Amino acid sequence: MKLLLVCLLVGLCAFAGADDIPIAKKQKDVLKLLSHINQPLVYPEWQKVIETWNVSKHISDYAESYVVHNFEDYETYGWLPQGEIFSVMYQPHLNQSIVLFELFYYAKTYEVFFNTAVWARDYFNEGLFLYSYSLAVVHRPDMQDVILPPIYEIYPYYFYNVEVIQKAYQLKQTHNPKQPAPGYDQNYGYTVWSNYSGHYLNLHPEQSISYYLEDVGINAFYYYYNLYYPFWMSSKQYGWSGINRGEQYFFLYQQLIARYYLERLSNGFGDIPYFNWEVPVETPYYPSLEYPNGLEFPTRPPFVKLQEYYYNYGQTWTWKSKYGYSYSLIQDWERRLSDAIDSGILDVHGQKVNLYEGDALDTIGELIEGNPDSANSQFYGVIWLYARHLLGYSYQPLNWYKIAPSALEHFETSLRDPMFYQLYKKILLLFYQYLYKQPWYSYDELVYPGVDIVDVQFDKLVTYDDYFYSDLSNAVFDTKEELLDDTFHIRVGQTRLNHKPFNYKIKVNSEKETKSVVKIFIAPVYDEYDRYLNISQNFMNMVLLDYFVYDLKSGENMISRNSYETPLYGKDPLSYHEIYQHMLGAEGGKGSWSADQYYWNFPHRYMLPQGTTAGMPFQFYVVVYPYAPEKTPGSTSDVYDYYFYPYLKEGQQFIDSYPLLYPFDKPIIYEKFWYDVPNFYSYETKIYHVEDVNVAH
Ligand SMILES: *[C@@H]1O[C@H](CO)[C@@H](O)[C@H](O)[C@H]1NC(C)=O
Ligand SMILES: *[C@@H]1O[C@H](CO)[C@@H](O)[C@H](O)[C@H]1NC(C)=O
Ligand SMILES: *[C@@H]1O[C@H](CO)[C@@H](O)[C@H](O)[C@H]1NC(C)=O
Ligand SMILES: *[C@@H]1O[C@H](CO)[C@@H](O)[C@H](O)[C@H]1NC(C)=O
Repeated sequence: MKLLLVCLLVGLCAFAGADDIPIAKKQKDVLKLLSHINQPLVYPEWQKVIETWNVSKHISDYAESYVVHNFEDYETYGWLPQGEIFSVMYQPHLNQSIVLFELFYYAKTYEVFFNTAVWARDYFNEGLFLYSYSLAVVHRPDMQDVILPPIYEIYPYYFYNVEVIQKAYQLKQTHNPKQPAPGYDQNYGYTVWSNYSGHYLNLHPEQSISYYLEDVGINAFYYYYNLYYPFWMSSKQYGWSGINRGEQYFFLYQQLIARYYLERLSNGFGDIPYFNWEVPVETPYYPSLEYPNGLEFPTRPPFVKLQEYYYNYGQTWTWKSKYGYSYSLIQDWERRLSDAIDSGILDVHGQKVNLYEGDALDTIGELIEGNPDSANSQFYGVIWLYARHLLGYSYQPLNWYKIAPSALEHFETSLRDPMFYQLYKKILLLFYQYLYKQPWYSYDELVYPGVDIVDVQFDKLVTYDDYFYSDLSNAVFDTKEELLDDTFHIRVGQTRLNHKPFNYKIKVNSEKETKSVVKIFIAPVYDEYDRYLNISQNFMNMVLLDYFVYDLKSGENMISRNSYETPLYGKDPLSYHEIYQHMLGAEGGKGSWSADQYYWNFPHRYMLPQGTTAGMPFQFYVVVYPYAPEKTPGSTSDVYDYYFYPYLKEGQQFIDSYPLLYPFDKPIIYEKFWYDVPNFYSYETKIYHVEDVNVAH
């Protein structure tokens, strides 16, 4: 059913049709292709494909012949060699990964896709392959029930600090199968304990929230989000244009920034600082990460002068790459966007479009992302991309294939640098510049006649430091025999925030039967100096916790939910090993395989910000409003309550047709009635933190 729907919407039925290949076989192929990505494939059964597959000879097996011609062109230009560092944020690398992705995407059958992938895994740069192949798994209609293993297990170098990787090398090099070192376990091998980077370096206070900044689940979420919605992809070409792309872009970053602000408050920090391009950037960053070839990630010292650095060292390489101009380009683009928003006049290749005749949030989001759906990316640019280059303080490459990207220039690592949040706060201000010019909601617009929230109750909220393990075996290099027999295992253990499951009850009186939508937000109550934040100052700090459709009966309704029911947060994804076990079960007929429940989302563990021992006050803002179905083009069914973002569901991720952030999608100027709207309710409670896991259980 799911496949059919996707295929109808995407219009790829010609080659997406139901094939008879079991999902378990596809899943196994994915796992095998992605394991030990930095080593050549060893499976004897695949050698023939590697040696004989020739894309040019199979041109009729690809739905679009241009993809093969593009490949042939690059054969003469040259590909990124194996062993070099790949970054999707460098245009030449991006171009190559698109060529490869399109080969995968337009392969007419699974068989062709598989052969192309096996051959490509052997032929292309590892990072280039990993990115393009993962994209294809996400976007190919015939791969919708297959899941990608966690990126922190596939590419641990981007998720674990260098001392963890070093420790893994050490254990591997001294490992004696007949006499393993103490701590070795038959099932999962060695265990390395990982610490966050504040552990032994005396770092900048900003980096002391490293348990949050470096969380593997939060970083993986951001990586997967960018596989589902790549900034370079035309949503029309790949059939996901029904999703309000620009609005979703705003929503994602507003949520990331607001969520980080909550965590900062729990740690005694206040606002995310505001920075200026001209003024030295105070916040330094020491990544403690290494590339698999041994190169360190670039470091940003404190108080860097962006202007000086780029004038003196950057722009001498202007002929070699446009990145040398980053400092000037972003300032041009920022000014143009700001001018367009203030004047209301958008320049669409010479034509003037008025931004204030109707809702242009979507248009502005696309402009800011500078994606192919943008009205004019030539004029308004791609600020965030060049800003990452500049703020990451990376080096100017001499060659397009010898680059040293900063943490900000990989989706896997960008959330680790506190500067990420400062940059996106600056970008969000452009949205707010627009939103502040919108008419604000009046009492009559917000009120839901006859519906009254009379009470809200939450269980006691407790966060704790939980233990978490993930497989680290892909970080070390195995011999051919070890690879074939899968004998050497190592895992990494670390503490990650979690919270006790909790229930909440919302008591609603309704005068009539009515279909409604319930949203629950969490927001601060006080700033870091214990000053009360009133709702005009707080509306941009709202983090959406839960969102669902509810049929209200006439009379009293007791809505009861558990924290696990929210569609917005994802459970810990299955590990590589668990996927393998499930798949073996499905293969042996012992179990069925369905990827539905294992989608990638912001980690459920981080649904609540860390509490404090004495209890940290937060407010839960509950909103009930009338249900209005999402109008998905081409869909006839009621699509609410299905999937939520980031799952790519061809327009199905919306629960209703209201703005994602409603009613906090617009600034609140006159705050006084917000606490009097009967269908809105603010509930204040404390979140406690305990260090001992056992106390929490
Ligand atoms: C693939 O086939 C094309 C066209 O037949 C040929 O020109 C090319 O050399 C072949 N490539 C390899 C690597 O054999
Ligand atoms: C990458 O592709 C785009 C679009 O096809 C093209 O305009 C651009 O010049 C290419 N850049 C590089 C560095 O290959
Ligand atoms: C992390 O810290 C613990 C406790 O100080 C230490 O035993 C462990 O070796 C550290 N892990 C690494 C990889 O340095
Ligand atoms: C809320 O804060 C804003 C901005 O500081 C202020 O103008 C307004 O008077 C405040 N409202 C209340 C009710 O305190």
